[in-house]
Amino acid sequence: MATFSQRVFSGVQPTGNLHLGNYLGAIQRFVELQERYECIYCVVDLHAITVPQKPAELTRQIREVTAAFLAAGIDPRRHIVFNQSQVSAHAELAWVFNCVARMGWLNRMTQFKEKAGKDRENASVGLFTYPDLMAADILVYRATHVPVGDDQKQHLELTRDIAQKFNNDYRESIEANGFGEAYFPLPEALIQGPARRVMSLRDGSRKMSKSDPSDYSRINLTDSADAIAQKVRKAKTDPLPLPSEEAGLADRPEADNLVGIYAALAGRTKAEVLAEFGGAQFSAFKSALVDLSVARLGPIGAEMRRLMADEAYIDSVLVDGANRARAIAEQTMKDVKDILGFIRAR
Ligand code: AMP
Ligand code: TRP
Repeated sequence: MATFSQRVFSGVQPTGNLHLGNYLGAIQRFVELQERYECIYCVVDLHAITVPQKPAELTRQIREVTAAFLAAGIDPRRHIVFNQSQVSAHAELAWVFNCVARMGWLNRMTQFKEKAGKDRENASVGLFTYPDLMAADILVYRATHVPVGDDQKQHLELTRDIAQKFNNDYRESIEANGFGEAYFPLPEALIQGPARRVMSLRDGSRKMSKSDPSDYSRINLTDSADAIAQKVRKAKTDPLPLPSEEAGLADRPEADNLVGIYAALAGRTKAEVLAEFGGAQFSAFKSALVDLSVARLGPIGAEMRRLMADEAYIDSVLVDGANRARAIAEQTMKDVKDILGFIRAR
């Protein structure tokens, strides 16, 4: 098998209301991975326009996601932070992948079905081909590891299928151009920890989401300490005390969710949290969860607000990151054009 140098890539859409699920499922993990890998973190603005966006709000939200990355502790000098639209190779490689992926593969994507809803005829074509662009984001950097929440698992599997089909379909040309037996790595999804899928605080059967109409369903990264406290206290629970072992969380989705959130914020396992709180009433556990949430999220929200007031700094981080990302991505596009048999200037 060909070997690839290890590289992390991930993206977050600038679509408003960054929440605890985004933080625990993705951004907090991005921060941890910086110590072990070369990392590229992207604000995926091209993905955002697969559904309608107001331009002025989109601009603000691109800066907000960037501020969240930095406030959480991502170092934009050692790693790369940028917005997707500034590196045209993403869109270019996505076109190639539109020609590699099969209609049948995209037809199976559950996120498209959920987002398109009943009125599929009226969904944008971009929403349908969204996963091809996501595959391009990752593979244009030949990234090997992709930290995401559980909801992105199917898209990562599709990315591997696209990489594999490209490697197979063009195998002779890949070898003839001196790239060995495979050009793209098959990237691995990193879906780990106790908060892979944070659920709504109002309904333990639904994912915490940016688009839930009830603000009480989620904790936003910019919520005040008071708002966090109110939302946690109002979170849906059941009447029983907490179990002392993880098996006791089965069929108790709301309890499972709050314990998972506590564990992820504390850097502990659910079993460890239950060893401490097993037998406690929710009122006591919720007080501890409020304290922990405010202690962990308060400083991030405050730093986000400070950074958001300095647009020139945020924009300079994005421009610098895009310049460094472009250098890597343009090399991939040259290689891909050679593999496909296109003629280019040398
Ligand atoms: P998005 O806001 O859809 O761009 O998501 C950004 C990242 O947050 C992705 O890695 C998602 O998988 C992750 N994510 C979104 N919602 C949740 C959730 N409720 N629980 C865990 N991870 C999530
Ligand atoms: N689809 C991802 C989401 O909605 C965002 C995303 C776009 C992404 N491109 C990516 C995540 C590449 C990881 C890698 O959350």
